[in-house]
Amino acid sequence: MQLLGGAAEVQGLRDGDEVAQLAQVQIHEASRSGDVLRVSQPLKEVLDTSSSRWHRQLRTPKPSGEHMNYAIIGFGTIGQALAKAFARSGIQVSVATTRAPESLASAAAAIGPELVPTDLAQALTADIIFLAVPFGSHPDVARALPSWTGKTIVDVTNAYGVSPEQLGDKSSAQVVAQAFTGAKLMKGFNHLVAGVLEQDPAVQGGRRVVFLASDDEGAAAQVGALAEALGFAPVDLGGLAEGGLLVQASGTTWGQLIFKDLVTFG
Ligand SMILES: NC(=O)c1ccc[n+]([C@@H]2O[C@H](COP(=O)([O-])OP(=O)(O)OC[C@H]3O[C@@H](n4cnc5c(N)ncnc54)[C@H](OP(=O)(O)O)[C@@H]3O)[C@@H](O)[C@H]2O)c1
Repeated sequence: MQLLGGAAEVQGLRDGDEVAQLAQVQIHEASRSGDVLRVSQPLKEVLDTSSSRWHRQLRTPKPSGEHMNYAIIGFGTIGQALAKAFARSGIQVSVATTRAPESLASAAAAIGPELVPTDLAQALTADIIFLAVPFGSHPDVARALPSWTGKTIVDVTNAYGVSPEQLGDKSSAQVVAQAFTGAKLMKGFNHLVAGVLEQDPAVQGGRRVVFLASDDEGAAAQVGALAEALGFAPVDLGGLAEGGLLVQASGTTWGQLIFKDLVTFG
């Protein structure tokens, strides 16, 4: 496997797990002009998208036999970037905000017929729900259902400006997980700015990496498979307490993998 990426030096995490293997690797500076990096074995293992949870899920149908359905809550900068990935891949997705669906109609139509503007209640009937709202709005969305059992939430928020004390010294994704009682919580699709995430993830014959962290194997499998269907290369960072920290904001600090635009080959 090869990596094409921007400058990154990833160090200083705890030993003894996959995240630490990733952390012990230094990814050296590469230009965006097509410089291809060869990286050392531990990172190769972490980034081996041909194994592990994703492919198991691709072979696992939904118990009811129906197709999974998807929603994006929040149709601002990052919500629309995600929506473009769905449209590019021909996958239908509901989009909702606090506003009436009619107010999203023209922006949604400009992206593609795969987008279905709905009200919030209808969007929350989806199996996998992307949370693309400001971090401070996540409790409002969480209050919209009495129980989130059976739902998978993909937390795309960045808690920039929220202090570690406000987060109770948890990862921001753990805080979101607490609010969505019963949901399977995945942190992911949040480490790139919208202007990058919205681009075709097929880059020079490789696939753009999205980082995913979850405490739930089932959610990791579901969302990993979806990331692949959207054309990305999902990279499993492990649990919310460890992997989540690598791809979050807290106070004015960004996690070490935030903004790292990586592409896998092979
Ligand atoms: N922008 C980026 O490049 C980027 C990259 C990675 C992650 N993120 C994270 O993604 C999140 C959204 O950022 P953004 O830049 O897309 O913000 P944005 O452009 O301001 O969009 C926020 C969206 O959330 C909706 N919203 C707010 N409160 C809501 C609620 N209670 N229920 C339903 N919808 C609600 C807003 O719609 P209405 O207010 O009209 O209802 C709007 O569509 C933030 O946490 C941000 O840190 C952003």
